[in-house]
Amino acid sequence: MSKNSQVEEERGEKPISEALKRFKRSKLVFEPSLAVLGFFLLGLCLVWSFFYFDYRSAAKSYNLSDKSDRFVWLKLDNKSSNRVGFLEESGDGCDVFDGDWVWDESYPLYQSKDCRFLDEGFRCSEFGRSDLFYTHWRWQPRHCNLPRFDAKMMLEKLRDKRLVFVGDSIGRNQWESLLCLLSSAVKNDSSVYEVNGSPITKHTGYLVFRFKDYNCTVEYYRSPFLVPQGRPPARSHKKVKTTLKLDTMEWTSSKWRDADVLVFNTGHWWNHGKTIRTGCYFQEGKEVKLKMTVDDAYKRAMETVMKWIQTEVDSNKTRVFFRTFAPVHFRGGDWRTGGTCHMETLPEIGTTNSLASSETWEQLKNLGDALLSHHSNRSGTVKVSVLNITAMSAQRKDGHPSLYYLGSLGPAPLHRQDCSHWCLPGVPDTWNELLYALFMKQEASASSRRVKEAKSSGNVTMS
Ligand SMILES: *[C@@H]1O[C@H](CO)[C@@H](O)[C@H](O)[C@H]1NC(C)=O
Ligand SMILES: *[C@@H]1O[C@H](CO)[C@@H](O)[C@H](O)[C@H]1NC(C)=O
Ligand SMILES: *[C@@H]1O[C@H](CO)[C@@H](O)[C@H](O)[C@H]1NC(C)=O
Ligand SMILES: *[C@@H]1O[C@H](CO)[C@@H](O)[C@H](O)[C@H]1NC(C)=O
Ligand SMILES: *[C@@H]1O[C@H](CO)[C@@H](O)[C@H](O)[C@H]1NC(C)=O
Ligand SMILES: *[C@@H]1O[C@H](CO)[C@@H](O)[C@H](O)[C@H]1NC(C)=O
Ligand SMILES: *[C@@H]1O[C@H](CO)[C@@H](O)[C@H](O)[C@H]1NC(C)=O
Ligand SMILES: *[C@@H]1O[C@H](CO)[C@@H](O)[C@H](O)[C@H]1NC(C)=O
Repeated sequence: MSKNSQVEEERGEKPISEALKRFKRSKLVFEPSLAVLGFFLLGLCLVWSFFYFDYRSAAKSYNLSDKSDRFVWLKLDNKSSNRVGFLEESGDGCDVFDGDWVWDESYPLYQSKDCRFLDEGFRCSEFGRSDLFYTHWRWQPRHCNLPRFDAKMMLEKLRDKRLVFVGDSIGRNQWESLLCLLSSAVKNDSSVYEVNGSPITKHTGYLVFRFKDYNCTVEYYRSPFLVPQGRPPARSHKKVKTTLKLDTMEWTSSKWRDADVLVFNTGHWWNHGKTIRTGCYFQEGKEVKLKMTVDDAYKRAMETVMKWIQTEVDSNKTRVFFRTFAPVHFRGGDWRTGGTCHMETLPEIGTTNSLASSETWEQLKNLGDALLSHHSNRSGTVKVSVLNITAMSAQRKDGHPSLYYLGSLGPAPLHRQDCSHWCLPGVPDTWNELLYALFMKQEASASSRRVKEAKSSGNVTMS
């Protein structure tokens, strides 16, 4: 029994997604409605609980190990067991962003009440969200298996190093997730602290958390546009309240240029509502470009960031990651006009653009183009690794705080929902597992390269 349990466990997780896929297909036929969804959920719970209790009593008499066989009745395929590990050499080239969300009861990796580093806005289950399905999904790449997140290992690799997130509040979401993931391996609470004693609150410029035992820091710099926003030049048009200086790097960049790992993101602020509507226009050199569109400005800013990476970052020292746009899931409006996501309890498996707006995809495309045209195949420059999480996260309409972002103040009004940020534990943990996987992969290839170099130089001296 036990020798198969690993395999059984892997097989067992997949089928739920298959079942959901089937359900989705039938949904297309029956027309999606709350009744159908409710019925499905009820049915699922019922079958589940029957099986569970039955299984419990059966397990006693047959001495089955827990977990392994609970979903055997749903077993539909046996694909997952023969995938290679991403970190193995045979895992080279595996696209870890191509895959499925699978049900996995060994998730979540931590509980929000055990993590001191979370904003109230992300502690959904502590402040009223009662469904917990959203915490139990694991990302399964189609052609390989991800390594399990190992906080101790990551901290060892980060010893004496700095890991820096630069971006908007979704970047902060991911940063807090990583603090929780890493600190779960640290026994002494007071050995992890903000270096200036600042509390975790929104809207501070930056926060630096030190893991004392590892002499490493995990930092967050708020910079929603990645380029600086400031006062317009003298004698600008009256409607220009502020400008984004598209050809200049954020002033804090000198602080994080020498970090060992940089994780960028941007996107959510590059829209009309957060720029031109508020009197924020775009500036190049001394000139304010009143006619420039948001999309063009976004592209220009991305070019500035990429050029800065190529010229200012030491490619021997710093690993650069860029996380793509995280989709939002407002149904029937946006964040200002009463869009909602509070009824979503299940992922939208098997689709990529379910509720993401066209604006989102346009932006992603821009970003993809800028990144790819600059960096995909230029050798000898800093390699930017793309955390291409947009498509996978688009399936997770169930992952947002919706009404449960106000902490102890209770649920928000129905027409003021947060369908942009993510509950923690939740989807950003997966982004960090992917960051971990890419990071470890690079570590592995760097060390095998070193071994090879040592070998070949040894040959040179011998001959
Ligand atoms: C049940 O399994 C445990 C360990 O897996 C073993 O120690 C025990 O002897 C088993 N009991 C029976 C009745 O087989
Ligand atoms: C299980 O996998 C084997 C090869 O790994 C394949 O030959 C077989 O058809 C698979 N069975 C099913 C039911 O998919
Ligand atoms: C801690 O790490 C920094 C680099 O980030 C290094 O300069 C310093 O010497 C380290 N301190 C100790 C005590 O190892
Ligand atoms: C925990 O960390 C704090 C701060 O670094 C230190 O003063 C204290 O001695 C540590 N406690 C233990 C039990 O290691
Ligand atoms: C980076 O490392 C390579 C070889 O390891 C070396 O030749 C090169 O000069 C280094 N570049 C910088 C900017 O230090
Ligand atoms: C991200 O993945 C999507 C499809 O999965 C692909 O179309 C896109 O080009 C990728 N973007 C980048 C920047 O790699
Ligand atoms: C990059 O690759 C594309 C196709 O893969 C090719 O068309 C293009 O010329 C390459 N660019 C450079 C600078 O090598
Ligand atoms: C180094 O030497 C080993 C055997 O001693 C040989 O297999 C290998 O090909 C050599 N490598 C180079 C780069 O010459």
